[in-house]
Amino acid sequence: MTSTDVAVIGAGAIGTSVAWRCAQRGLSVTIIDPAPERGAWQAAAGMLAPITELHYAETELLQLSLAALARYPAVVDELTAVTGIDVGYRQHGTLAAAWDAADLVTLRELAAFGRGLGLTMQPLTGAELHELEPALAPGLPGGVLAPSDHQVDPRQLHRATLRAAITAGATLRTATASVRVERGAVCGVDLDDGATITAGRTVLTAGAWSASISGLDDSARPQTRPVKGHTVHLTDVGELRHVVRGRVGGNTVYVVPRDGGRAVVGATTEEAGFDTSTRLGAVYELLRDAQTVVPMLGEARLGEISTGLRPGSPDNAPLLGPATIDGLIVATGHYRNGILLAPITGDIVADLVSTGTLPELADPFRPGRFRSEVLG
Ligand code: GLY
Repeated sequence: MTSTDVAVIGAGAIGTSVAWRCAQRGLSVTIIDPAPERGAWQAAAGMLAPITELHYAETELLQLSLAALARYPAVVDELTAVTGIDVGYRQHGTLAAAWDAADLVTLRELAAFGRGLGLTMQPLTGAELHELEPALAPGLPGGVLAPSDHQVDPRQLHRATLRAAITAGATLRTATASVRVERGAVCGVDLDDGATITAGRTVLTAGAWSASISGLDDSARPQTRPVKGHTVHLTDVGELRHVVRGRVGGNTVYVVPRDGGRAVVGATTEEAGFDTSTRLGAVYELLRDAQTVVPMLGEARLGEISTGLRPGSPDNAPLLGPATIDGLIVATGHYRNGILLAPITGDIVADLVSTGTLPELADPFRPGRFRSEVLG
């Protein structure tokens, strides 16, 4: 039996960020993950996109996402200074391009809604679109520019954050954890290698697996589910100046350029349980739509096909804060925004652990909000 101030279940984008920020505050931290080299971050494209991920009725999430984006430059500087790793943070802006008139109406309506909320979403004609991004297909009817939606390389970000956490003193254990409950409160974790780690606070950051952790009864289990996404990683891609999001006959696709002629095309959104197999139709449709909007992708080379499981939640927003059982904090359910929200989640959880108070901007995301009685 060993003890730690904070046990973090899950070494993904969220868990490593939580561990880093807690360790920086002088807390002893143990991260536990059966496969720390795998996670949704591997398949993620890394769009930092509060604006082009805007959905009607998700305005509280928008505020959290904008705050998360504002913190990114400082976090990136800090990570780079500590680890020397270039996390691929690029501020080139995002273009949303429509394929036909109906797609354009949908984009323009959402942009008008966003502008009503004070966001910069600049409508573009087809000619303006093409001038900004010559690689786009000729003849597109128009689109929208979101200059403040940026990108990062999630694999590099994860590598840097894990290294920063360990540099700050956190320990990584490769094992499967179950939550240990004594006298009605969580007091640490039991590992499948026979060890027990007692902890002042246990933080559940297990992404799509958060609802499957053993040791919790149903009333304390976070309400997450896996939502599968395919991404296709390309090499030998010609010049792309922006992240490009296409709306093609009602389907959505994005192309995220990376340094060195690489790009990531994504992503499907599939309710397929814990299946992570590669589905041919999904890859076909992604590449078809991507090439429709950016024809030069037909000349690119196939690097890799990835699948990942986003942690979905009932309202598509994260679950952040004290669980409905003492001793446990939940930081999961980040769905399509895990990379964007990882740094701010680390700050929120470290504040909560250190002060006992959940920062105000996380208040709408308390894990108990879906239950009929107010527990969270
Ligand atoms: N962040 C975009 C996606 O989840 O596909």
